[in-house]
Amino acid sequence: MNPSKQVIYRKDYQPPHYWVRSVDLAFLVNQQDTIVKARMVFEQNHEASGNDLFLNGVDLDLIHLAIDGTELPEKAYEKTNQGILLTDLPADFTLTTEVRIFPASNTALEGLYQSGAFFLTQCEAEGFRKITYYPDRPDVLAPFTVTIIADKEKYPVLLSNGNQISSGDLADGRHYTKWLDPHPKPSYLFALVAGTLAHIEQSFTTSEGREVALRIFTEKNNIDACDFAMQSLINSMRWDEERFGLAYDLDEYNIVATDDFNMGAMENKGLNIFNTKYVLAKQDTATDQDFINVEAVIGHEYFHNWTGNRVTCRDWFQLSLKEGLTVFRDQEFTADLQSRAVKRIEDVRYLRAAQFAEDASPMSHSVRPDSYMEINNFYTLTVYEKGAEVVRLYHTLLGEEGFQKGMQLYFKRHDGSAASCNDFRRAMADANDVDLQQFELWYSQNGTPQVYVNEIYDAKAKTHSIEFRQLAPPNHQGDGPWQAMHIPVKLALYDPSGQPLSLNEQGDEQLIYELREAQQILVIRGVEQEPVSSLLQSFSAPVMLFRQITPQQLAFLMKHDRDEFNRWDAAHQMQAQIIMARYKAMLQEKSYSCPDYFLESFRHLLLDQHSDPALIAEALTLPSLKSMTNQLKDVNILLLHEAKEWLVKHIVQSLEVELLSVYNQNFSTEPYAVNSTQVAKRSLKNRCLWYLMQGGKKDMARLAMEQYHQANNYTDRMTALTLITHQQVPGFEDLLGEYFTEWQNNALVINKWLSVQATIPSEDTLHRVKQLMELPVFSLKNPNAVRSLIGAFCGANVTRFHASDGSGYQFLADQVIALDQLNPQIAARLVSLFNDFKQFHSETQEAMREAMQRIHSVQGLSANVFEIVNKALNQA
Ligand code: TRP
Ligand code: ZN
Repeated sequence: MNPSKQVIYRKDYQPPHYWVRSVDLAFLVNQQDTIVKARMVFEQNHEASGNDLFLNGVDLDLIHLAIDGTELPEKAYEKTNQGILLTDLPADFTLTTEVRIFPASNTALEGLYQSGAFFLTQCEAEGFRKITYYPDRPDVLAPFTVTIIADKEKYPVLLSNGNQISSGDLADGRHYTKWLDPHPKPSYLFALVAGTLAHIEQSFTTSEGREVALRIFTEKNNIDACDFAMQSLINSMRWDEERFGLAYDLDEYNIVATDDFNMGAMENKGLNIFNTKYVLAKQDTATDQDFINVEAVIGHEYFHNWTGNRVTCRDWFQLSLKEGLTVFRDQEFTADLQSRAVKRIEDVRYLRAAQFAEDASPMSHSVRPDSYMEINNFYTLTVYEKGAEVVRLYHTLLGEEGFQKGMQLYFKRHDGSAASCNDFRRAMADANDVDLQQFELWYSQNGTPQVYVNEIYDAKAKTHSIEFRQLAPPNHQGDGPWQAMHIPVKLALYDPSGQPLSLNEQGDEQLIYELREAQQILVIRGVEQEPVSSLLQSFSAPVMLFRQITPQQLAFLMKHDRDEFNRWDAAHQMQAQIIMARYKAMLQEKSYSCPDYFLESFRHLLLDQHSDPALIAEALTLPSLKSMTNQLKDVNILLLHEAKEWLVKHIVQSLEVELLSVYNQNFSTEPYAVNSTQVAKRSLKNRCLWYLMQGGKKDMARLAMEQYHQANNYTDRMTALTLITHQQVPGFEDLLGEYFTEWQNNALVINKWLSVQATIPSEDTLHRVKQLMELPVFSLKNPNAVRSLIGAFCGANVTRFHASDGSGYQFLADQVIALDQLNPQIAARLVSLFNDFKQFHSETQEAMREAMQRIHSVQGLSANVFEIVNKALNQA
């Protein structure tokens, strides 16, 4: 089999035979090609016996290779399309190499590639091997010195990691810059940028007194949209000092924004590279959510400087060590700066819809996977989001102080080196002197743990017993049997008047009850009347909790729970119950009408004047189909969609007056600002408008038109445009046309325009999508455009993607096959949209399987796409 399609196992990890003591790189950047010269000092690793060395290298034209100054003849080493094997090496030696690469024709956006008027790199996870021969593995750390030489006029900006130590002019109109990154780092954190870019600059003085130059680079036409990102960077630096005691460690912090990027952003040491989507943000072109996302991603990459860069990963199986931890840190950053409850609700909503689905899919894997074929396929929701939940578990169990003690010990032990998930767990346990043995299961067991609850109130004994039973997830993998996990359940009990009960002798009204056994019973004494329990408050563990709960109890919790998250969750559960009841009735062709208590509690929510409007907006947002289907089999997705639509219609018909009045009350007349008060009001107002528009009435369409034309901000404008377009209000085509004319030179704004159209719930949408693909603003080579058009159609337009004629599946298969030739990483992301196929009833499943089979049979498929379809088809 093709060597790039081999499965790699975690258990096969071997330490490197050689360390790299220093790397010197020189880049001669030209339009047609780039020459890369390397000088690397190697030293044998005495803890691993071996005097051979494998240098990864892919798509490189080797010009020269010498050891200690002596050119090696070709027969002196073994060269394949994956790299070079050197044997019989001395204990210490210097290797010099020279290669030629072709960045301008690199469409995979990995290694060195071109974006508009500049060249840039993306090395994580294994892109450095497309730049030069090197032991491209995260446990080999070295200080890098980088010299970049290029034409001064065409490439005025030349950046790399660390601090710039010199620069100057050369002959023939060329110039150079030289960079030193003193912090030893693995090759995946290398970065280089060369070309024409504008920038803004500020300075920040760290708590240690270091003055740092902060710069953000973009193409000139975007330079006026970088100020918010700059402020976010400053906020991140300050927050990490205040909450974690961590300060920045170089004299420069550079960020470069590009329109051509496979993911969100990359934490390269001292030289972050960002998707423009997470840098550019201005009032007339960014939604409130866009602003919050920019702040979160800027924070995320900045926080990696300690969790990822100063302490990195031993191997890629440990990816969650940096990603789970850094997501946890960015979540806390957003929670501290914005609304904690809203952030928690949104994160859990996402986890339940997407990560739980991944956990139930053929791609299910543990937070620390045991094997992979293509590592890029494991930058997953499980590694990132569930990984963050696992870090949050330590925080829940140890408290802020204990958690920070663990962090300090972790840095003390591992700063400047490559660590494992076990190292992190040990630091948390040792710093707090607690036993976290069982916690290992959070890293090793795949699937979503299931917890069943049974409650008994004994009126005579005045006790309330809560029995918890842990059950293995249905798709448990691995050799041994599934084992019970260590699960903290945060809980409270309320008396019938809504007062919290004291739960123990100390009088605590909230407890963290730790599950460790497959079955455990918590008994609360002195309970005078049958209580209502609030379990798994703030979503204290990433599990599915199953309990019998009546609509009356849910309504009670919606009113009385002190935990804002669980108040929301109660509303959410009640909504899911109603949609499911309607769906089941439809399946059996029975009737089911919406119970009065539901509308009553919905009205109560809507008219609640005391709660944060942002929380109300969350509570009024019905559960996604994804979050409802991931425990089910045989789902008729179109019918389930219909059941949800029915509930929406019912709500609008019954509560139109209330919705309209809340809409009007939350209209802000203040000048626009992205502060939590305004953001909250806008989200509630726009949620109301969303409901009102689903009723399909003319005067509501007029309301949306008014909002579109009068809005002083992009959130309101975009919400109105989306609703008008999705309802196909007469005149919507004209609005879309005007919008295009106004914004055709702004890629991010045009991408939103593409998404709005891709998600129209109408028969001709696929046709429209195919037409939009012909426009010059769309290119299969641009990941943002692909995600905005193809991704939105297949991932967010349920009725059209799942159209009963199978046209949606055929379309996705065609696009995956075409894209795989250009950009395997993005093709693999797209093909993953088939991964939930096993939840659907047999006809749907069959049609999706056929489309995957067609992809599977393509010759020369990338390892990326192959791994995913192969898993799906083999496990079906
Ligand atoms: N490490 C990056 C982050 O989470 C993400 C990343 C991984 C990435 N692989 C990538 C970004 C490839 C771009 C391309 O912040
Ligand atoms: Zn990250």
